Amino acid sequence: MHLSQRAFRMRHYHNLPGMRTVWILVAFSAFYALTLLYCRTISYRDPSSVFFDANRAYDRLYSGHRIEQANTYIASIDGPHQQRLSNLESPFLCLGIATVARRGTQYVRTTVASLFAGLSKEERSSIFFDLLIGHTDPAEHPIFAERWLDILPDRILQYPKDTAESAQVIAWEEGGWYRNKSIHDYRYLLSDCYATGARYIAMVEDDTLAVEGWFQRLLHALDIVRAKMDKYPSDERWIYLRLFYTDDLLGWNSEQWATYLFWSFLVWISVSTVIYASKRRFPRQLEFINAEVMASLSLVCIPAMILLFFMAGKQTMMPLSPGVQEMNKYGCCSQGFVYSRDMVPHILDKLKLETKGLVDMQMEKIADAGKYIRWAVVPPLLQHIGATSSKGYGFDDNARQIWSFRYEQYRFDKDTNYPKIKG
Ligand SMILES: *[C@@H]1O[C@H](CO)[C@@H](O)[C@H](O)[C@H]1NC(C)=O
Repeated sequence: MHLSQRAFRMRHYHNLPGMRTVWILVAFSAFYALTLLYCRTISYRDPSSVFFDANRAYDRLYSGHRIEQANTYIASIDGPHQQRLSNLESPFLCLGIATVARRGTQYVRTTVASLFAGLSKEERSSIFFDLLIGHTDPAEHPIFAERWLDILPDRILQYPKDTAESAQVIAWEEGGWYRNKSIHDYRYLLSDCYATGARYIAMVEDDTLAVEGWFQRLLHALDIVRAKMDKYPSDERWIYLRLFYTDDLLGWNSEQWATYLFWSFLVWISVSTVIYASKRRFPRQLEFINAEVMASLSLVCIPAMILLFFMAGKQTMMPLSPGVQEMNKYGCCSQGFVYSRDMVPHILDKLKLETKGLVDMQMEKIADAGKYIRWAVVPPLLQHIGATSSKGYGFDDNARQIWSFRYEQYRFDKDTNYPKIKG
């Protein structure tokens, strides 16, 4: 066969308009399949993604390491009954933790350890640690006899004895009035923290895990909050800085469908226009783009890519940027809040036993009613570990959702060891 003949046949073959489109679609499908596979590897931990994989998503990429660090630290604490390092006069932060005995594992020592491991003396002295043991008989709590309890807290808060209040608490304990007691405990501890004169008050639940360096990160976040508040009118107030949120509610919201449609359309029309304009500008170089190819690009390929963008998940494609973000909606759970001192009397006034809902729901209502700004630290400084079964397998279905996937992305150096701190 002559070379020219062959060239002629080749050209003839390629000129078949249908064939060209088929090739483009085949190539695109291969590319698309590879991209899908790639998305599966990057979005399996994003609950807003179709590639979310519950079997792998809850792996403790960071918290496993952090729990180990915390437990090593708490086991190393020993020494004589500590004279408090803390400066009792108006600390910078009052850290309030209320703890009650749980069935099975007690997480509170890990929580406390993760908050205190690695704090410098100076950092430690700006924190007043107020620990409420939420039992009328504190000896009922399994941690009661543990060594660290004599050393770490600046105050072990207990209920007053033989008063109407303690009779009420006993009634709740005996009757299993969990909600009433948890709200009472929150208020009791919050007002005790307030009484220390602290500038900020952190209320942290007893089944959380703090990231290494949380205190410096918190100081930084509070700086950002102050800077952001300066840009608002002076009558705007913020209610809390959230140290924990779940990613579950931060996906694509059906209420925003119109926005998504608008942007999808804009992307579609822009990319199509660029292809079309390029073809007009470089007709010879882009000769292969005939009308049919153009149609398959803009009717199949571009929409398919847009669809993939949504399938990959919001927190994969458009994650919250690190720092402090406004989270006036979709912030979940009360694992950790930091309040500014001036907000506390107002919260104590509104957080009521008589109002429906647990602390987290009531806080959102108070914020809605007062039109307060709600801030969140991104990535969160706390993980919720209470959901893990002590037997090491799986999660309770309800608690499963109280998990921060973002927290697990913290990096760590496997060889970091804290110096053992005595006393
Ligand atoms: C618990 O709180 C609810 C709502 O205020 C109230 O109706 C109920 O009587 C309380 N229970 C007890 C035992 O105090």
